[in-house]
Amino acid sequence: MADDKVLIGVIGGSGLYHLDNLTFVKHVNPETPWGFPSSPIAICALPSGKKVAFLARHGIGHTIHPSTVPSRANISALKSLGVRVVLAFSAVGSLREEISPGAFVLPTQIIDRTKGVRPASFFEGTSIVAHASFGDPFSNKFVNWLESRVKKALDAEGRGVKLFTDKCIVCMEGPQFSTRAESLMYRQWGGDLINMSALPEAKLAREAELSYALVATATDYDAWRPDEGTVTAAEVFKTLNQNANTSRHVAATILDDIYEAFVADGGEMLEEAGKMKFSIMPR
Ligand code: ADE
Repeated sequence: MADDKVLIGVIGGSGLYHLDNLTFVKHVNPETPWGFPSSPIAICALPSGKKVAFLARHGIGHTIHPSTVPSRANISALKSLGVRVVLAFSAVGSLREEISPGAFVLPTQIIDRTKGVRPASFFEGTSIVAHASFGDPFSNKFVNWLESRVKKALDAEGRGVKLFTDKCIVCMEGPQFSTRAESLMYRQWGGDLINMSALPEAKLAREAELSYALVATATDYDAWRPDEGTVTAAEVFKTLNQNANTSRHVAATILDDIYEAFVADGGEMLEEAGKMKFSIMPR
């Protein structure tokens, strides 16, 4: 595969507005049928010379609210650059005692609480009837591959950051955080984490046939702990910068390896169920 191909896209969440240890090449800002992405996309070169595309989900100065992130433009813009695999980062609240603020998590399931206000399909408004398979909302092949690499990168950083896998993330509509009652309910439903950004991004990545994994970085305990205060933005901000530094370290450590793994896998790493040929209703 040619070196100038941009096979990997990285989406940065709150606090993560750039990557480290990469050589900046240029900014691109592709206009898509769904408008412009959240921010111009930085094309950067890895130490190997391979290129990655970095996109700040909330805009570079964090100006875009989770409910209005132009996810269709974001995914479509990355795809237009040739991206096949997306490593997304997002700040999350924890619904479990053992997942303390500062922990990293690779979730494998999602519960959608976004209330249907976000455009969540590329097929909306078209005459194509498509039902993408979404039982496994992340690319399990990619998540499994990531597990040992992210763990190794966290261990090498030496700050004792824990990694959890196989967890369920609740994606809620903001901007307000959850009530205590909602937070307790999400725990009963089997939720382990909560954020406002996993969807519709993961759904759109699936429709675009991209391998997609989320590195969730815990910033706070959500409102379920009876003897503790509820979540405040100030509490979230406390851990945001440290989590972003660790995310940059993880990305810098594993991106070249992701490239190699994808090339070795024929540029895919996407399960059959992640392919749209099984999703479009025949006429
Ligand atoms: N993002 C970070 N912490 C969160 C929380 N507790 N609820 C929803 N989104 C979040």
